[in-house]
Amino acid sequence: MSMKSSYQSDATKAPGSKRVALRPGGAQRPARGPVRDVAALDRRLAAIDRLEDRLHEITNAIPGRVTFSTSLGLEDQAILHAIAASGAGIHVFTLDTGRHFPETLETLDESERRYGLNIRVVAPDADELEALVARDGINGFRLAVENRKACCEVRKVRPLKRALAGAQGWITGLRRSQSTERTETPFAERDQAHGLIKVNPIADWSLEQLEAYIAANNVPINPLHAKGFPSIGCRPCTRAIKAGEDLRAGRWWWENEDGKECGLHNRPNKKEAAA
Ligand code: ADX
Ligand code: SF4
Repeated sequence: MSMKSSYQSDATKAPGSKRVALRPGGAQRPARGPVRDVAALDRRLAAIDRLEDRLHEITNAIPGRVTFSTSLGLEDQAILHAIAASGAGIHVFTLDTGRHFPETLETLDESERRYGLNIRVVAPDADELEALVARDGINGFRLAVENRKACCEVRKVRPLKRALAGAQGWITGLRRSQSTERTETPFAERDQAHGLIKVNPIADWSLEQLEAYIAANNVPINPLHAKGFPSIGCRPCTRAIKAGEDLRAGRWWWENEDGKECGLHNRPNKKEAAA
């Protein structure tokens, strides 16, 4: 990939050095009922060009708390920048699986300082984790797909449920061109499992668009992107890709292509999502 790392530890770039709490979601918004027409929101987002304007559309359309899950990857760093730049009242959290690359945690620290945001760090339940490791071993996720899914369940999926509790809107950095499983990613869909509206504000962005946004705004990014890691997850389950490989080829590379999701983004059927 062509992206050169613009990662920097220079805190003087920060527009404001003090940490400020984000406006609690929904605090100044008029009380309104649930979003009725998710398809209309999807269409409106498709018609808006600027990411910052899309974020405002999302918070205007969704009453209550809107929260953004960041993996600290390229896509999410662009969205984080837009959240800070737009001033849209959006909460931010990340799931700390306990198995991240040190560079990912550095990116978290750097981003909080750069943008003056508090990013909520959500950890797995300690008892569940202990039971999982006692059963499968510390690296048991390599032994069987079921073990891998159990690890993702305890380290990511259940913490995600906790993080989303009480939210009406969930923003992610999913893009259609990331993989064949994601080619139909909508801008907005009803997420029945979490009882909210899931929004993917850069669903239509190409990698080139994303890189251009990052470069134009000098967004801090994980230095691993410049070393052949376009998609970064947990350290033992992520490796660099070779030229021409799928962007997500370095994730769970020992597994079949068709099952390579961790359970954070299970696709509803189309009828469910549009209802
Ligand atoms: S994953 O499901 O394979 O891990 P991927 O890394 O492509 O997903 O990220 C897709 C989106 O899932 C991100 O834009 C982000 O919204 C969410 N996500 C993935 N990993 C995390 C994480 N550790 N913490 C918070 N959100 C995450
Ligand atoms: Fe566990 Fe690997 Fe899933 Fe991380 S990506 S939660 S280490 S199986």
